[in-house]
Amino acid sequence: VLTLDFTKPGANVSPMLYGLMTEEINHSYDGGLYAELVRNRIFKDNKNTPEGWSLVQDDPAAKASIKLIGASEEKRPYDERRLAINGALSTCLRLTVEKAVGRVGIANEGYWGIPVRPSTAYKASFYIKGTDRREPFRHPWEPKPTTPPLPVIENNTAGPITVTLESNDGKTVYASGTINLEKSDYWKKYELTLATAADVKPTKDARLVISTDRTGQYYFNLVSLFPPTYNNRPNGNRTDLMQMLVDMKPKFLRFPGGNFLEGPLITDAFPWKQTLGPLESRPGHKGSWGYRPSDGMGLLEFLLWCEDMGAEPVLAVYAGYSLEGDHVDAGPLLNPYVDDALDEIQYVIGDTTTYWGAKRAADGHPAPFKLKYVEIGNEDWFDRSNSYNGRFTQFRTAIEGKYPQLTCISTIADAQYPDMKVTSGKAPAVVDEHYYRNSWDMWENASQYDKYDRNGPKIFVGEWATREGAPTTNLNAALGDAAWMTGMERNSDLVIMSCYAPLFVNVNTATATAPKAWQWDSDLIGYNALNSYGSPSYYVQKLFSQYLGNKIVPVTAANIPVQNRPLTKKDSTDGITSKTVPTVFYSATMNDTTGVIYLKMVNTTAKKQAIKINLDGIAKVAPEATLVVVKGSEPEDTNSITDPVKIAPVTTTVKGITKSFTRNLDPYSVSILQLQAG
Ligand code: AHR
Repeated sequence: VLTLDFTKPGANVSPMLYGLMTEEINHSYDGGLYAELVRNRIFKDNKNTPEGWSLVQDDPAAKASIKLIGASEEKRPYDERRLAINGALSTCLRLTVEKAVGRVGIANEGYWGIPVRPSTAYKASFYIKGTDRREPFRHPWEPKPTTPPLPVIENNTAGPITVTLESNDGKTVYASGTINLEKSDYWKKYELTLATAADVKPTKDARLVISTDRTGQYYFNLVSLFPPTYNNRPNGNRTDLMQMLVDMKPKFLRFPGGNFLEGPLITDAFPWKQTLGPLESRPGHKGSWGYRPSDGMGLLEFLLWCEDMGAEPVLAVYAGYSLEGDHVDAGPLLNPYVDDALDEIQYVIGDTTTYWGAKRAADGHPAPFKLKYVEIGNEDWFDRSNSYNGRFTQFRTAIEGKYPQLTCISTIADAQYPDMKVTSGKAPAVVDEHYYRNSWDMWENASQYDKYDRNGPKIFVGEWATREGAPTTNLNAALGDAAWMTGMERNSDLVIMSCYAPLFVNVNTATATAPKAWQWDSDLIGYNALNSYGSPSYYVQKLFSQYLGNKIVPVTAANIPVQNRPLTKKDSTDGITSKTVPTVFYSATMNDTTGVIYLKMVNTTAKKQAIKINLDGIAKVAPEATLVVVKGSEPEDTNSITDPVKIAPVTTTVKGITKSFTRNLDPYSVSILQLQAG
């Protein structure tokens, strides 16, 4: 029995309860949300080989090769260094055509393929430079080059260069265009549009080819290809993934991490300053998940992404601690990091009279962005030196001192790490708790916030997930998630924000030329180059956010059935011999303007469960209600690229609603009942 109590006003639901968390993991941006289609566009992903690139030679009689130039920063010879366009674009690809027979060129394979769709315009651009026949300038004291001289090739590079979007075997051309390479020894950027015809069948098995039919040496850099983007933003985002996010109605976006904020070493932290401005000035950086982020998704792009979703940024600033355990002590050594965070905040909210506010305006966004919360670091409980107390305090004093309207979030939560919490100065107003659990743990702990101290800090559950299923989670995980979310929602006077993690996964496994795309199992939204889908957990997130009132309705439960849960190692060590968890979970909220009541119920078992629902203290309720259900027949049921909506919400109308009625919950289901009061 569930009794919803309308006799006294409930607490407010936090207006920022449901948001998103993001970082560059699992090819979330490069090969994911960020719409760039060319992999390794500035040739810096791998020092030894032009990863993602290959030689195209239609006729075996031709003689041609490709070579990475200037990749090894320390050892590269003088001649190679002279080929840098600037400090960021210091590596390039050389195509040498000694004998031209038929078409010769370079091909990019994209991020596990390049997607091609009908009637679509793709914006291609690249820097190219023709044969360099000049004797390199050398100071008298420069050593003679030790590398073999370039082959003597007729300087014949001027003329048309062809750009095609074509099938991987080169037999089908989906779109093509040409640029006219001037007889130039100097770098020049060329841009063109490749448009596909209406009868092209969608495919991801395509490549981008830039080719010539003349001898010479051709140098390439910053090769880029963009499909149409969400809201047509230049350097923007993939439309299908953005739509999925917008449909979730997120109130905020926590970025840029996660581990991605910190980097493995102090020198690898998210370099927000070098992610600004034109792509020409973004060298990319090491990243935290084993591949090199292009930083095409830079600070401004994160902020525009928020704007496009109607969400607020929750900005995480680097706090002087990195993943391999190094930290910068509080005190004068930390000051540059604090200043860097202040600069970053100024870029986000400073007006145009400020240095960084003016930069933002110059980057195309004069209006300051919204910002209320700044998170200081990420998961600093891993810092065994216990330096966070001092670091947090130094950051908070500077940030809240300069911007009293901002609230700094501590990444060490009192309840999770009582021996590490921040004690110098006032207690943090908001703390970030992370929970990666299995479904049993979620069910066991779904009520944990019912018992939390209301006089302590507010809670931001900044990363959490039920980790079952890979690469995206299955139905059982969604049942764990939904149970956990009822607990957060019921307590959203305390839990003011929450966001699932990780958000994205490129689901490609390893190929002959590209590694497996993901590093973390159990993710929310899966995709390849062409298609995308939501996990059962995605639908739960979306529905919980969509069907939410502004007041918590207190619910009392009686006779909720329980089930035994398998004991964990810790239980056995603690001498616990049996444990039960509930099999039904619930929360209710109401919109006090419209009178709509949202009752969420989760049945985690294989059996139908009848629940009696009493609406106490309500004057009237409409006889019809809307019911949205996510369910499946097996806990392992899941969605995938090939079966994207096996588990998806179904909406029906339920009749016969009175102030006391019974509802049968389907096996393995999450039900949201939308009732109309008054
Ligand atoms: O979400 C994956 C990782 O889990 C995050 O980068 C990190 O903050 C957490 O440990």
